[in-house]
Amino acid sequence: MNIAIDGPSGAGKSSLAKAIARRLSIVYVDTGALYRSIGLYMKEHGIDPKDEVAVSAALPAVDLSLRFENREQHIYLCGRDVGDRIRTPEMSLYASAVSALPAVRAFLLDTQRSIAQKTSVIMDGRDIGTVILPDADVKIFLTASPEARARRRTAELKEKAIDARYEDVLSDMAIRDKNDSTRAIAPAVPAADAVLLDNSDMDAEQTVEAALAIIRKKVAQ
Ligand code: DC
Repeated sequence: MNIAIDGPSGAGKSSLAKAIARRLSIVYVDTGALYRSIGLYMKEHGIDPKDEVAVSAALPAVDLSLRFENREQHIYLCGRDVGDRIRTPEMSLYASAVSALPAVRAFLLDTQRSIAQKTSVIMDGRDIGTVILPDADVKIFLTASPEARARRRTAELKEKAIDARYEDVLSDMAIRDKNDSTRAIAPAVPAADAVLLDNSDMDAEQTVEAALAIIRKKVAQ
């Protein structure tokens, strides 16, 4: 079984996908982490993440591998686990920039599809239901108001001891939302057969229950 969870940043896709993966004993794949890792490579090599020519030229040297250790996803970039280095606000903007480039999306396509072919996954991202897994058994587009998303993301960063102000997170989020939903290639929009789930007024557990109800209904069909 493959489940696609798409939606804007800060909607709680990864918390939801992790919880469902545990409940259903399937693998959780965080695809945003792949774009973040490519962003990290560009930063470490002094490459402007918006420079399509330079990023494309660098891609063949990007040695990225995805491993699952105790069901936890680890990304190795040139042999080193990227860990939390990809989680900073700066890396969010790098990821958003590189993710708009067709060469980067093509580079990551097989990595994402081949995992879903090998095992049952719940995969979160922006184009999972539309591009990566168009035949997914269940597609959920998870969303929430920008304010709710910025509040959650600020708390999440603070928990990781990454300094962040709500106002900055909200404005970074507006930039990313715009980049991600208006880009020419694989924009973050719901698939025609996705179920929309707005969790602005739900807590994490209510979101999990709502998503499980959607999954059960789809699987029973
Ligand atoms: O989900 P995230 O915040 O870790 O994603 C980081 C960036 O990568 C985000 O700006 C959108 C982009 N992304 C994408 O274009 N496609 C995906 N499947 C996942 C993420």
